[in-house]
Amino acid sequence: MDLSSQSKVSGFVIPVEGLKSPEERLQPFAWFQKMRKESPVSFDAKRNSWDLFRYDDILAVLKDPAAFSSVRPQQGPVLLGSILGMDPPKHHQMRNIVSKAFTPRSIAELEPRITEIMGELIAQTEGKTEIDLLQSISIPLPVIVIAELLGVPAADRQLFKDWSDRIAESVEDDSEAAIQKFLADKEKVRRELDDYFMKVTLERRKQPEDDLITKLVQAEVDGEKLTDEEIMEFCILLLGAGNETTTNLITNAVRIFMEEPSLQEKLRQQPELMKGAIEEVLRYYSPILAMNRYATKDVEIGGKQVKKGDLVVTWIGSANRDEEKFPDADRFIVDRTPNAHLAFGQGIHFCLGAPLARLEALIALPLILAHFHDMRLPEGTKLEAIPSTFVYGVKELPVQFTP
Ligand code: HEM
Repeated sequence: MDLSSQSKVSGFVIPVEGLKSPEERLQPFAWFQKMRKESPVSFDAKRNSWDLFRYDDILAVLKDPAAFSSVRPQQGPVLLGSILGMDPPKHHQMRNIVSKAFTPRSIAELEPRITEIMGELIAQTEGKTEIDLLQSISIPLPVIVIAELLGVPAADRQLFKDWSDRIAESVEDDSEAAIQKFLADKEKVRRELDDYFMKVTLERRKQPEDDLITKLVQAEVDGEKLTDEEIMEFCILLLGAGNETTTNLITNAVRIFMEEPSLQEKLRQQPELMKGAIEEVLRYYSPILAMNRYATKDVEIGGKQVKKGDLVVTWIGSANRDEEKFPDADRFIVDRTPNAHLAFGQGIHFCLGAPLARLEALIALPLILAHFHDMRLPEGTKLEAIPSTFVYGVKELPVQFTP
């Protein structure tokens, strides 16, 4: 089967040479460095794909959607029919409409509510001296925020959380049977989500509310509106692309705070450093490691001849560690400037949810630092990477602390 067509689904491990073992997936940076040096534009005959590792090559690809398409030759499960997988002019039209509903102002208005949700999550850790950061904070926070933004009633919250977990579920074993089961599961979630969001969309058409789905129903550009299917697709994308990535941003930040404990006190003393620190987390432990593009014509990259139709994998996790672009790239520098990382992509598909992800981290991390002192990994903890070659994070992050 064509593995590349499914590779955008998080939790899916494609057989990439340097990322086969869980250890390599926890520390992919040595492989990235080797590839940047030895084979920055390399063809993998087994996967029939080009892998790009250098910042400049990747930036050039992301900025040229005419030559490098986001439309997959074969559609796969979940997420793939969404705005992410569109090219201009369709992408432009869709992006204009959804941007009207998803404005920086409407995101900024969420601040008090995000603070409140964080307060509730922290209150639930009362009396504890050890938590799994994922279960206690980094998973629930973005799920609740998205659910409320979309206007999902509180009664459906658990349902919503289960779907979100099932979208993020992964397959480690790349046998044909395991892959088939994985795809069947994703299809099932997809159908349940379709039904759910279709129902809510129809309800909002009849009875508008103050929520994102209503805004999507009403948004119009040049007389064009979204169809019910497009609204449904977009909601599912938010659930799939927005939650797990934000979870990993918060988790990866706390992981660094424990790897470099002096950062904890520094950020408490100098809260103005937090904004830059979040950008450095995005660069250093990028929540998304790679994106796919397809060459629309024969084209040369770094002296290599890419053929029309070839899959091109842009390893942004490697671009963000490119020493040609970032001096001392393998060091976490809390106030690194400039910091033009590619963690949110670049060009026409630049992450629409970046202001929301940044805001959630900017509220969550200072509160985590304020309530959990002297954060450390319990003795003997061995971190395990999420079994994915596209999403970067850990399965659990046990945190011991002094309240
Ligand atoms: C696109 C990363 C959070 C919604 C993207 C892309 C990246 C990315 C790399 C570009 C994909 C491509 O070029 O193929 C991230 C990271 C996040 C995050 C690292 C968290 C730290 C969110 C959130 C939302 C969101 C919270 C919404 C609630 C989107 C959407 C697109 C997108 C709608 C598609 C934009 C388009 O195709 O025009 N994201 N994202 N993301 N992201 Fe995010």
